[in-house]
Amino acid sequence: MAKINENYLKLAGNYLFSTVGRKIREYQETHPQAEVIRLGIGDVTQPIAPSVINSLHTAVDEMGKAETFRGYAPDLGYDFLREVIARKDYQERGCSISPDEIFVSDGAKCDCGNIQEIFSTDNVIAVCDPVYPVYVDSNVMAGRTGVYDESLQCYRNVIYMPCTAENGFVPEFPEQTPDLIYLCYPNNPTGAVIRKDQLQSWVDYALAHGSVILYDAAYEAYISEPDIPHSIFECRGARECAIEFRSFSKTAGFTGLRLGFTVIPKDLKVMGTSLWSLWARRHGTKYNGAPYIIQRAGEAVYSEEGRKQILQQIAYYMGNAKYIYEGLKEAGYTVYGGVNAPYIWLHTPKDMTSWEFFDYLLSEANVAGTPGSGFGPGGEHYFRLTAFGSRENTIRAIKRIQKL
Ligand SMILES: Cc1ncc(COP(=O)(O)O)c(C=O)c1O
Repeated sequence: MAKINENYLKLAGNYLFSTVGRKIREYQETHPQAEVIRLGIGDVTQPIAPSVINSLHTAVDEMGKAETFRGYAPDLGYDFLREVIARKDYQERGCSISPDEIFVSDGAKCDCGNIQEIFSTDNVIAVCDPVYPVYVDSNVMAGRTGVYDESLQCYRNVIYMPCTAENGFVPEFPEQTPDLIYLCYPNNPTGAVIRKDQLQSWVDYALAHGSVILYDAAYEAYISEPDIPHSIFECRGARECAIEFRSFSKTAGFTGLRLGFTVIPKDLKVMGTSLWSLWARRHGTKYNGAPYIIQRAGEAVYSEEGRKQILQQIAYYMGNAKYIYEGLKEAGYTVYGGVNAPYIWLHTPKDMTSWEFFDYLLSEANVAGTPGSGFGPGGEHYFRLTAFGSRENTIRAIKRIQKL
């Protein structure tokens, strides 16, 4: 008789964004005249840059001719893409990463959800609180956590590292030593960044304790201030203790095209075994390569013209972020983020819970955001707005909030 993976039954409630979506739908059904502006889910709205579109067209045409047709892509990605990533994202920033340490994939969500497979289920994970839910849920599914404790809003056997306004949303070292440490900077949901010396001290900590850092840099392209690390591999010793995830989704609007990559240095060994080789084995078995057309589109992101166009897009979103940040501040809100990340993290007014504020904003301003408590107990009394809307909608949403 078939049995299910009972770990799935431990998962608490619905995936955050499904609940947000359902609530908006229900509201619209009962208020059909209301025009809800969504500044909640972190999807982009700007069209793909012209250079990338040109590259897509060329690659599509190549697929229509016998001489240039491509079938299965190499498991780990085409060399033309891995080479340009290694050069532009790493070597030009002083990080020693070679093309064959880059694993091209269809996005960071799959990679940061799947990476836990190459580690023992006995490993204890540490996550920031609040946190991008994928890290925790994927470990729940794998059986690496205990049950969900409703009263604490936490899974047992997971180390939650509080990220608060007081610590600048960068965690302190936990009392219990974790085996796997998930860090994400620029951060979703808080919009915070980590300084180089802080990241270096996490690398030193991991090296001293034999832990591995799983570093999600999906929002790296949004860093605007100098002296903020773009990669964990800018830190000394990171090649021996860190894996990094990157995504083209927010960098270049690929949420619908799907492209990302994971960097695993060959020096990274656990109990003498190379994690590179385990992930290569896993990738080869369970993944058949990102599409050629999409990898060519990814290559175009690094061209001179492509880069220029993408920077314009990022500047557009960050213009929204500035507008939201300043508009909310003027309206008396306490606000964080929005400078090196497309997320604005605000403290809910009048001691409202995150969900109370969600309902209030939806019904009184017809603006939808994301309740901070959906990212973990540390997100309670916070709320996330994203800068990914159109400028027009962003301005209208903030004006509505200012009138409340
Ligand atoms: C922190 C973080 N990592 C990864 C992802 C997923 O990226 P992708 O679209 O490449 O799967 C997201 C998307 O919202 C994210 O916020």
